[in-house]
Amino acid sequence: MSEISKEISRRRTFAIISHPDAGKTTLTEKLLLYGRAIQSAGSVKGKQNDRHAVSDWMEIEKKRGISITSSVLQFEYDGYCINILDTPGHQDFSEDTYRTLTAADSVVMVIDAAKGIEPQTRKLFKVCAMRNIPIFTFINKMDREARDSFELLDELEKEFGIGTYPMNWPIGCGTDFKGVFDREKRRILTFSDSHAGSDRIKAIECELSDAEKLDTLIGPYMRETLVDEIELLDGASFDFDIEKVRTGKLSPVFFGSALNNFGVEPFLENFLKMTTEPLSYRSGEEYISPTTEGFSAFVFKIQANMNKAHRDRIAFMRICSGKFERSKEYFHVQGGKAIKLSRPQQMMASEREVIDEAYAGDIIGVFDPGIFSIGDTICEKGMKVEYAGIPTFAPEHFALVEQIDSLKRKQFDKGITQIAQEGAIQMFFLPDSGMERVYVGVVGMLQFDVLQFRMESEYGVKYHKQDTAHCLVRFAEGDVDMKRLNLMQSTKWVKDRRGRDLLLFTAEYEINWALEKNEGLVLKEFSQVQEI
Ligand code: G4P
Repeated sequence: MSEISKEISRRRTFAIISHPDAGKTTLTEKLLLYGRAIQSAGSVKGKQNDRHAVSDWMEIEKKRGISITSSVLQFEYDGYCINILDTPGHQDFSEDTYRTLTAADSVVMVIDAAKGIEPQTRKLFKVCAMRNIPIFTFINKMDREARDSFELLDELEKEFGIGTYPMNWPIGCGTDFKGVFDREKRRILTFSDSHAGSDRIKAIECELSDAEKLDTLIGPYMRETLVDEIELLDGASFDFDIEKVRTGKLSPVFFGSALNNFGVEPFLENFLKMTTEPLSYRSGEEYISPTTEGFSAFVFKIQANMNKAHRDRIAFMRICSGKFERSKEYFHVQGGKAIKLSRPQQMMASEREVIDEAYAGDIIGVFDPGIFSIGDTICEKGMKVEYAGIPTFAPEHFALVEQIDSLKRKQFDKGITQIAQEGAIQMFFLPDSGMERVYVGVVGMLQFDVLQFRMESEYGVKYHKQDTAHCLVRFAEGDVDMKRLNLMQSTKWVKDRRGRDLLLFTAEYEINWALEKNEGLVLKEFSQVQEI
């Protein structure tokens, strides 16, 4: 195996997704602890003290005077080179969160055991399912009161249409949480809650058949329940099939408590064994394997600088094949030009570092003088490759944006068009009106703030914004005359940049109404049709 192939095969690039508060930051921190990428618990999130948030670039960059928000954390563990992609949630949730998932080879879904599937997990899962990438589930907070484990699995299977395979099985929960049964090794690991914050837990191991020892560890009642549940599980659950795991059809499930370090290490070890090496990406009709000769990458995110003093932007790219070398000249396919990527950098746990080389599976951020767009391909000169564009994701919030000062009309048009082209917002037009009033659609409310800030600081334009109640968007197809459509009053007909017809709705029943009243109208989901 060549040196490059060896480097690529040890890469594991994944994203951790969850609904806010399920434990994504805590799990990330514990994984970094095992990789010795950080020294102490609490350094990922500096709520109580002033230690900065490792995975929260925005905070770090604010301190340094520039703003980048999230990207990727890289660390070594047991011979693997691990890239954890940060998927901003909370108030930072935006279309970038979705786009980031296009750069991951697998996903770890953190679920709060007391809550089960929550709205943000649902949204993020949909994007992962579109790509058929492996999905691992970590059911967290078993040290608290939890929902029935069978019920949680059932919910995952029914809602997400995937199979689940519990790798371990919890013994009690909350104050009665005694540990887990490891299904592969057929033994139990006991839990004591005195491990919080410590490096590694020392688990006590015991065979399921050792009734006497088990009785002393978890008591006869819990032992009996466990034996019954394992019997039920062995008989009723899906068979383990690694191919199904690797294509996202079967999700290995781990129960644990990230805060207490319980179940994190077995999770990491099993995950690394089961998940995939860097995946191939589509270019035209072909799939480009990561070991294909020559460097190639695509831009999945562009982060404009919010600070006036630093106008530059950073383009984040996922390397799809070969090796990146800092000094080399590469080719920007969409721009048709040779380029040098300046100041390429990676996030190494707590520090952002300028790097000299990187491999397929890695993510690099480069300074963008305004030449890149989301979805662009950069590759070795002479390589024939152009990666399939990144889909735009259905906006969930809309506002009618109207220019105030007609003398600044040109700046308004230019600004809003450019910001939309960069993918920071989506723009829709009223069919019989010009650019002075447009609909802006976003995935996360933060994008509205970014728009306002940039319009004022970069283009010197203020505008009037009226939020609307629309939250659903569909492409209108089929053989219909848009002007004659029979729609509810709140439904809005708009056009996208390419002149395609869309309808904005405020609720699901409005969509049904439109379909019932207009024969021949076909409504298509947004992200299945659209590519930037
Ligand atoms: P997020 O990134 O998904 O939003 O979640 P985060 O890790 O920040 O965790 C949310 C809260 O849940 C935190 O408490 C965290 O300590 C707690 N938590 C995470 N994992 C576990 C677990 O396994 N068991 C229990 N009992 N709690 C867990 P907080 O009080 O909101 O924050 P903090 O003050 O502790 O940082």
